[in-house]
Amino acid sequence: MTKPAFDPEKNLEDLLKMESEEANPNAERVGDKPGTPVNESEFNFNIKPEELESYLNQYVVGQEETIEVIATKVCTHFNRMKLEKKLSDENRLVGNIKSNMLLIGPTGVGKTYIVKLIAKKIGVPFVKADATKFSETGYVGGDVEDLVRELVHESNGDIAKAEYGIIYLDEIDKIASSFGTYGPDVSRTGVQRNLLKLMEDADVDLKTPHDLASQVEAAMEAQRTGRVTRRKINTRNILFIVSGAFSGLEQIINKRMNKQSIGFDKVRIHGDDIQEVLKKVRTEDLIEFGFESEFVGRLPVYVVLNDLHEDGLYKILKNKHSTVVIGKKMDFKAYEIDLEFTDEALKIVARRAHHEKTGARGLLSVVEKILIKFEKSLPSTGIEKLVVDENLIENTGTVLKKMLLADGIQGFQKEFLIEHGIYLDFKEEAVEEIQRVASEKQKSVRQLCTELFHDYFHGLRLLKKDHFTISKEAVSNPDDYLNSYIKENYNKQA
Ligand SMILES: Nc1ncnc2c1ncn2[C@@H]1O[C@H](COP(=O)(O)OP(=O)(O)OP(=O)(O)O)[C@@H](O)[C@H]1O
Ligand SMILES: [Mg+2]
Repeated sequence: MTKPAFDPEKNLEDLLKMESEEANPNAERVGDKPGTPVNESEFNFNIKPEELESYLNQYVVGQEETIEVIATKVCTHFNRMKLEKKLSDENRLVGNIKSNMLLIGPTGVGKTYIVKLIAKKIGVPFVKADATKFSETGYVGGDVEDLVRELVHESNGDIAKAEYGIIYLDEIDKIASSFGTYGPDVSRTGVQRNLLKLMEDADVDLKTPHDLASQVEAAMEAQRTGRVTRRKINTRNILFIVSGAFSGLEQIINKRMNKQSIGFDKVRIHGDDIQEVLKKVRTEDLIEFGFESEFVGRLPVYVVLNDLHEDGLYKILKNKHSTVVIGKKMDFKAYEIDLEFTDEALKIVARRAHHEKTGARGLLSVVEKILIKFEKSLPSTGIEKLVVDENLIENTGTVLKKMLLADGIQGFQKEFLIEHGIYLDFKEEAVEEIQRVASEKQKSVRQLCTELFHDYFHGLRLLKKDHFTISKEAVSNPDDYLNSYIKENYNKQA
């Protein structure tokens, strides 16, 4: 085998050329044919639709019909691939359309979540991006082929594995030509065209034409080893899932369905009705929305996700996998505080989140808003447990103040008892006064108590007291109060 000559003086163009087949006919090629595994990383797919369905239903709330379709089509896709791998080239179907999917649904109802869970369960590389970041030329944002290269990155360079990956593109509705605010029409249509090539069967170069450094590196490697490593990845088996909110699509569908009816004009569709109309979506509606027919043609499976209502949001919070509750508990656990939510509290959170109209995304922002002041203040106290209940949610300020007050007073009581063996009891009016003075003087309750009563032990010892009640007057005038108390009681004692 002849090694290709390498001359560092050669210009860059030659180096790059050397990477190509013609320039290096004798080099031994490794896994060069697209679609064949490089390092025989076997793809062991063995999941049945019902298994994937029940797995997803453990995590995802209120999307049963969607999950049924997605789980089935994803499983069939991967099982088909397994079958086709065994077939000889002649027996493979030509022009076969794979089950790329379109998910339609408002924000925060689980589109991304479902796809991520699937990729995790199946163990295939997964790449997610927003369709808006691409431009036709690839100059502005990126080139759609970058997605395929990213899959290789995700699979740590294992091309065979990357060829079984899932590419998930969100905000696909924004590349419809009717979409008003993003980029010119032609560019959006161009992105659709570039994508549709990938969605079917295309070979993508691993190295981008503008990535000179890696091109040079590859050329040097070829020179050194006499081998040209595989540079292309085939997209035939890559599953594409695209999604978007498709606002306004319901109008198009409605118009089509009502064509025959007389006097039809644009009617406003609300709430659940939108979802019901969307579920009737047909290819022609998507074309009317602004997609090229060839693009829609590569998406044979459509699913429409449900809007999540108060009840659904509550179920998400109660779900044992809910990241909102678990995540928030961990935030507090980081300060050694146990956090708990009552069911009543979770219902209020769900109700408030529903008003935000951001699906499950609203849950976290509602919880954050309720707890932020507690998260700030409790770590500097001795408080080890926080129960979030209805009262706490409705009166956050008061509840927090009370907690801090109780913590400050208890802390001082404990310290006084340990140091002097005297238990100080605080009347309710005294506690209120302490709170008032503390906020007026901008001092913590504990600090104020120390200032007011630290010297009380001299007098109380004199009286041989092991128990003393602090009244409001004691707070307002600690020295006078103690003095007159001593005078009165010392004589009595004597
Ligand atoms: N149906 C659901 N069941 C359980 N959890 C959910 C559901 N929908 C959303 N979530 C939670 O909310 C988070 C955000 O949802 P997700 O990312 O799936 O939204 P999306 O539908 O992709 O919205 P967007 O259109 O804004 O991207 C998820 O990570 C998950 O924790
Ligand atoms: Mg998403």
